[in-house]
Amino acid sequence: MKSSAPSRILSGPVPVLDAAIRERVARLHVVVVGDVMLDEYWFGDVRRISPEAPVPVVHVSRSDERPGGAANVARNIVSLGGRATLLAVVGADATADRLRRALDGAGVRHRLSVDPALRTTLKLRVLGPHQQMLRIDFEERPSAPALQANSAEYERIVGEADVVVLSDYGKGALARAAGLVAFARRLGKPVLVDPKGRDYSDYAGATMVTPNRAEMSEVVGSWSDLAELDDKAEGLRAQLRLEALVVTMSEQGMRLYSQDGVVRQPARAQEVFDVSGAGDTVIAALAIMHGVGASWEDAVAFANAAGGVAVGKLGTSVVQFDEVAAFLQGTSSP
Ligand SMILES: Nc1ncnc2c1ncn2[C@@H]1O[C@H](COP(=O)(O)OP(=O)(O)OP(=O)(O)O)[C@@H](O)[C@H]1O
Ligand SMILES: [Mg+2]
Repeated sequence: MKSSAPSRILSGPVPVLDAAIRERVARLHVVVVGDVMLDEYWFGDVRRISPEAPVPVVHVSRSDERPGGAANVARNIVSLGGRATLLAVVGADATADRLRRALDGAGVRHRLSVDPALRTTLKLRVLGPHQQMLRIDFEERPSAPALQANSAEYERIVGEADVVVLSDYGKGALARAAGLVAFARRLGKPVLVDPKGRDYSDYAGATMVTPNRAEMSEVVGSWSDLAELDDKAEGLRAQLRLEALVVTMSEQGMRLYSQDGVVRQPARAQEVFDVSGAGDTVIAALAIMHGVGASWEDAVAFANAAGGVAVGKLGTSVVQFDEVAAFLQGTSSP
């Protein structure tokens, strides 16, 4: 894939997202590694203040749960039409069982390393009729032996991948990102990283990194105008030896930096309902399009549309290939 010239899938007056592309997407295998979590939502009414403490009592009538973090990236790979295998560390607990069931239901293959001392990351939201009342996080860092098992599993299966995605939520799963990047690159696999933290040196040599604005400013500092952002982004891209860097900028769309210079993609969403999880959809879409040989420019146009579809949806951040294709062709609003 790397040796052939990138194809202009989206060039011309109407984007060509035809059956042939879909077939290539369907054969594509993306290995996703990173921090997984379960997002849980409890909805209810508030009718009184607790007699035990001055806090509202939420009478729960409904609940919902969703795979989050790297698990949401993997789910988006599948909903966009590709095949995904998820590698992560979980605990030996009910949260991990629920995560596995959700992944099975979504058609995501998984190889989860179990750390018996770890509590699987869980984000529990309690929502009243008008607002979120409380969020409760269970979050621990995986042990060294569990990370070792996860790396060993990765080295066993990464040869079967067309693309590798590292989904870093800063919770410890990618403490050894440098080794994961190097191993995949030695095999000639593209590695796309959704980054976190102040220091990106572990991502050096990856193919692409996709910080959002806040993540970008954490690593390069603030910028006073877009020219300064572009300078800093080019500097970071050179320093990390990336083929491409994409800064996702919420309502301002995206900026792509590559050897061809800077490409600006204005945001495409017409209506915005729920911005959470758009970043997961974006990196899944980039992985899919890069995997089928699209140019970076086309991959970013597709991913920007996918992000636009994602934020136009309430309560789900999973996007289908056909929704993105329709959105790009202007036949449907999100
Ligand atoms: N308010 C918005 N209006 C239009 N498009 C949006 C908006 N927010 C996000 N998007 C789309 O989603 C993409 C990714 O959003 P963003 O830059 O917020 O990523 P993120 O912060 O990593 O997301 P998250 O962490 O919430 O998953 C944007 O580049 C854009 O295409
Ligand atoms: Mg993000």
